Amino acid sequence: MRAAVTAHAGYTISKIDPRLYGSFIEHLGRAVYTGIHEPGHPTADENGFRRDVIDLVRELDVPIVRYPGGNFVSAYDWEDGIGPKEDRPVRLDLAWHSSESNQVGIHEFADWADAAGTEMMLAVNLGSRGLDAARAFLEYVNHPGGSYWSDLRRKNGREEPWGVKMWCLGNEMDGPWQIGQKTAAEYGRIAFETAKAMRAFDKSLELVVCGSSSPKMATYPEWEATVLDYTYDSVDYISLHMYFDNHAGDTAAYLAQNARLDDYIGTVAGVLAFTKAKKRSKRDVYISFDEWNVWYHSREQDRTVLEGRDGWPHAPALLEDIYNFEDVLQVGCILNTFIRRSDVVKVGCLAQLVNVIAPIMTVPGGPAWRQTTFYPYLFASRHGRGTALNLAVDCAGYSTDFASDVPYLDIAGVQAEDGTLAFFMVNRHPTETLALDLSLEGFAVGAVIEDKVMSGHDLRQVNGPDDTPVAPKDGQDAAIAAGRLTAALPPLSYRMIRLG
Ligand code: AHR
Repeated sequence: MRAAVTAHAGYTISKIDPRLYGSFIEHLGRAVYTGIHEPGHPTADENGFRRDVIDLVRELDVPIVRYPGGNFVSAYDWEDGIGPKEDRPVRLDLAWHSSESNQVGIHEFADWADAAGTEMMLAVNLGSRGLDAARAFLEYVNHPGGSYWSDLRRKNGREEPWGVKMWCLGNEMDGPWQIGQKTAAEYGRIAFETAKAMRAFDKSLELVVCGSSSPKMATYPEWEATVLDYTYDSVDYISLHMYFDNHAGDTAAYLAQNARLDDYIGTVAGVLAFTKAKKRSKRDVYISFDEWNVWYHSREQDRTVLEGRDGWPHAPALLEDIYNFEDVLQVGCILNTFIRRSDVVKVGCLAQLVNVIAPIMTVPGGPAWRQTTFYPYLFASRHGRGTALNLAVDCAGYSTDFASDVPYLDIAGVQAEDGTLAFFMVNRHPTETLALDLSLEGFAVGAVIEDKVMSGHDLRQVNGPDDTPVAPKDGQDAAIAAGRLTAALPPLSYRMIRLG
């Protein structure tokens, strides 16, 4: 089956914000404790952070990490995580039915972010708390000194402020599961007032207001319209979240789910444009897609903890989805969608980064290892930076209950600052090879400089701590001649080809 694609140097979508490839660490399960932080682990640094995990995060080149939640943040008192560790309280985390030791707080996380070469994106609690706690936290984190909260930070060992630019105004405030859930109007007012106070401290902050937790929410997209009505001129981003699953065991439908993602982004982009016009605003508000991933493999096994049958364990194994080869294809399609919508989606956070629905897993006391989905994220993060190309794609497609004409080829293209090109491709066809014929117009590229392919595995094949069989191999057949890139894309495969 032929897949004809045209790329033209003058036909682009947008400059990609590198933060499109961000991620997320929540105080949830083993993300923090025995994930990033494990004093006594053979690779632990002087702060108790696992160096093996830091190396993998650095390999992924994660530009920004959202912290500390997630549902956790909606009943979190940030002050519990500062001061001498022996004085920090153990609290019950109502979101995940666990105990929180508070041995990691803002100081420790900031040290970790530094070591991992990433920026922090902090969330404030607008569930059980509100404006006052948010403004105190901001002052603690960003004010140089000479005020109550900034001097307390200095007393606690950090002289310089961290200068965090990006702040989330709560988390999933539309969700009935959220501690302190609000109606759109209640939340819109609180978010507006919180943004006003935070901006009174520093106008240059980048503020993220909560959009819907999922396009399945009954309040979507009215939620966005109401919340933006209150906040459009006070925020920079509206957050969207979406998780993907193949409970139905239907690969074709599963791999078409990014059509839903695309609709979701398109609808919210429409609400943003509507609100901008309604308010006669000159500003643009963008989307921060700050939670997305495949999440379903662990749902059943998590019941015991989440229903409280285990009491209040500290750092129990939760949301430890073990990803398979099929999920590689799904994550590849999702990332391609974000690249294609990079005109409106500026920030993205793969949820999450370590142990909790994550590309990186750890064994307590043992090794850290790469899940199958580590790789499409790695390739997009490392080579999907620059300018997104507006590709013309001509390829047969198929239909599902919710989408028609889903092309068998899912493709995104990016031109890097140095002129090199990267194409990310998923062949969704279950049995047929796609003969890629990609016409390159107006680019100064003449050679294949990298070709990585993931194919030929059973869809249910997984990686583990001792063996990672689902890993990329070098592609063999990609060629450029007379301004055309050709390659054979095997059925159900992921591929990245770079040209220079
Ligand atoms: O990422 C896991 C959870 O999913 C987050 O805590 C929450 O925001 C979302 O429902």
